[in-house]
Amino acid sequence: MLYHNESNSMNTISDERVQPCAPMGNPYLPHLATLTTVREEGPGLMTFEAQFQDPEVAQTFTYMPGQFIEVSVFGVGEAPFGVASVAGPGRPIRFSVQKVGLVTTALHGLSVGATIGLRGPFGNGFPVLEHRGKNIFLVGGGIGLPPLRSVIDYLREHCAEYGEVTVIYGARSPQLLVYKECLLEWGQCEDLDLCLTVDRGDETWEGHEGFVPSYLEELNPSPENAVAYTVGPPIMIKFVLETFDKLGWPRKQVFASLEAKMKCGLGKCGRCNCGPKLVCLHGPVFSAEELADLPWI
Ligand SMILES: Cc1cc2nc3c(=O)[nH]c(=O)nc-3n(C[C@H](O)[C@H](O)[C@H](O)COP(=O)(O)OP(=O)(O)OC[C@H]3O[C@@H](n4cnc5c(N)ncnc54)[C@H](O)[C@@H]3O)c2cc1C
Ligand code: FES
Repeated sequence: MLYHNESNSMNTISDERVQPCAPMGNPYLPHLATLTTVREEGPGLMTFEAQFQDPEVAQTFTYMPGQFIEVSVFGVGEAPFGVASVAGPGRPIRFSVQKVGLVTTALHGLSVGATIGLRGPFGNGFPVLEHRGKNIFLVGGGIGLPPLRSVIDYLREHCAEYGEVTVIYGARSPQLLVYKECLLEWGQCEDLDLCLTVDRGDETWEGHEGFVPSYLEELNPSPENAVAYTVGPPIMIKFVLETFDKLGWPRKQVFASLEAKMKCGLGKCGRCNCGPKLVCLHGPVFSAEELADLPWI
C-alpha cells in the first residue's frame, strides 16, 4: 500500500506502509532555517517555529502528521523531533523540545533569529489518508502531545473527510499539561471532543484525575469504524495498548508512535533498530498488531 507520494525515492524496502513524504533534496544535508518563534511551554519544554531560508524550500517542503525531522544546532549536534505543525506552502515548521541532553539544551539556549538546520521529513507518519471516513481517537500523554497536535490540526483542516475526533490527553500534574492555550481552544470547539486527565490534581484542578489508560477504559470508545493513535511515554503506550485489547479493539486499528535513539534518520546506520525493524524507516508509527512481534519495550 502506498501513500500519495508514489514516486518516493526512499521507498526501496518492501514494507506494508512507507514514507508518505520523502526528504527534500539530499537527505543528509540540512536546509538552513531561521527560528521565528521561541516559546516556553512548561517546565523544561520549549516550542519552536522555523522558516526555511531558501524560498523554494519554504514553498515546497511538505510532510504528514506523525513524520519527524532532524534538527541541527551547528557545532553541537542533531536530534529527531516529531513535527507539531501541518504542512503548507510558506507555513513555518513547528516542533517542541524537552530539555534532556546536549542538543536539546543547546536548542533551549537559542532565540528568535537564530539559524538551525532541518533535514527530512522522515518516517511513515500516521496513516491519516487511509483512515478517511473513520472516527479517530487520539490518546496522548505528557510531551506526546506535540506530534498529536499535527494530527489534530490536520484533522480539523480536513474535518469533512473524517468522522468524530476524540482526544484523550493526560499528564502527571496540571502544570505538566502542554499547549495550554490549544487545550483551551480545543475544549471549546465543536469539531473535536477533548477529554483531559491528570494523575494527581491540585487545588486549581476541577477535571478528571487518574492515569490515561484508566480514563480510556472508563470512556470505553467503540471500535466500530474507528482507529486510535497514541503517543507518549513507553509505559503509557504499553498500558494504552493493553486497554484497547481489553476493550475489544482489533490490533490493526490501533497505532502507536515510538521513540528510539537515532543517527541518520533514513534507514542507513542501523542505530534505531527494534528487532528486524528500523524505527526511522518502518516507523516511528507501528500498528499494535506489528508491535506484538517487536521488542519495543
Ligand atoms: C521519531 C522521534 C520523535 C521525537 N519527537 C520528540 C519531540 O517531539 N519532542 C522531544 O522533546 N523529543 C522528541 N524525541 C526525543 C528526542 O529526539 C531526544 O530527546 C533527543 O534526541 C535528545 O538529544 P540530546 O542531544 O539533547 O540528548 P543526549 O545528550 O544525546 O542524551 C540525553 C539523554 O536522553 C536520552 N535520549 C537521547 N536520544 C533519545 C531518544 N531519541 N529517545 C529517548 N531518549 C533519548 C539519552 O539516553 C540520555 O539519557 C523524539 C525522538 C524520536 C526518535
Ligand atoms: S537512525 Fe539510522 S537506521 Fe534509523
